[in-house]
Amino acid sequence: MTVPAAPAAGERAAVITGAASGIGQEFCVALASRGARVAGVDIADMAATRQAVRRAGGTFLPVTADVTAESDTARMADEVRAAFGRADICVNNAGTYPLVPFEETTYAEWRRVLTLNLDGMFLVTRALLPLLRRSPAGRIVNVASAVVWLGPPRMVAYTTSKSGVIGFTRSLASELGPAGITVNAITPGMIPTATAVRTGVTADLDRVVAGQAIPKVQQPADLVTSLLYLCDPGSGFVTGAAINVDGGFAKH
Ligand SMILES: NC(=O)c1ccc[n+]([C@@H]2O[C@H](COP(=O)([O-])OP(=O)(O)OC[C@H]3O[C@@H](n4cnc5c(N)ncnc54)[C@H](O)[C@@H]3O)[C@@H](O)[C@H]2O)c1
Repeated sequence: MTVPAAPAAGERAAVITGAASGIGQEFCVALASRGARVAGVDIADMAATRQAVRRAGGTFLPVTADVTAESDTARMADEVRAAFGRADICVNNAGTYPLVPFEETTYAEWRRVLTLNLDGMFLVTRALLPLLRRSPAGRIVNVASAVVWLGPPRMVAYTTSKSGVIGFTRSLASELGPAGITVNAITPGMIPTATAVRTGVTADLDRVVAGQAIPKVQQPADLVTSLLYLCDPGSGFVTGAAINVDGGFAKH
């Protein structure tokens, strides 16, 4: 049996969007503390993430960039190439999830949600592909949401966008499989990050927790083992999948 050569953990380089806070920050620390050099991409200040990664003994490159601006994503890829010389992992996590009734959703708001959650993922992935193709084990992980299995009210734009993330994941997995690049999604349940609390999406957190098979409040850390699994060089046969991590609410 031949085992494909996998890069040593210390050599790998990861790019994580939406790195300034919440799930993205947790992912930066998780991958950096396992030896990957991490570039965080965000429009917000990433000082807290940089500190957290350094505390974990990792390497962190903050790249201030708007994932919806093509010129920014091209510059981001240039900065990653200049700093690390490679990119093995791309985690598309930047996103927005407004809670708004359908009839109150303006066209501008609809476009804003789809632009950030879909165009951002497209632009970042495409900009990094030349580097990912050179990796011996390229990994793309897209953060979708358990809403795609549930279709909750007042989240039509968001659910539409995250369903698009699943379609993107499946089709791109087929296209990049021959290059040895896997493309997968994670669908988290309700996580009371600062943004989720501020925007009111956690108003019915008690109801959600009560409906979960595991009745505890989900934290960003609950997603880490799934992320590490999908990014592992040994997971090269897992692609086009969406791993649901929601404590057993959707039971998908
Ligand atoms: N919190 C939840 O309950 C939950 C559940 C399921 C899925 N998700 C998804 O997880 C992801 C992260 O959510 P979170 O709760 O950690 O939110 P968050 O607001 O803490 O993180 C999102 C980050 O994206 C950044 N960002 C926004 N617009 C950007 C842009 N144009 N360019 C670059 N960066 C930009 C923000 O500055 C922020 O740091 C999102 O895609 C969200 O849809 C969250």
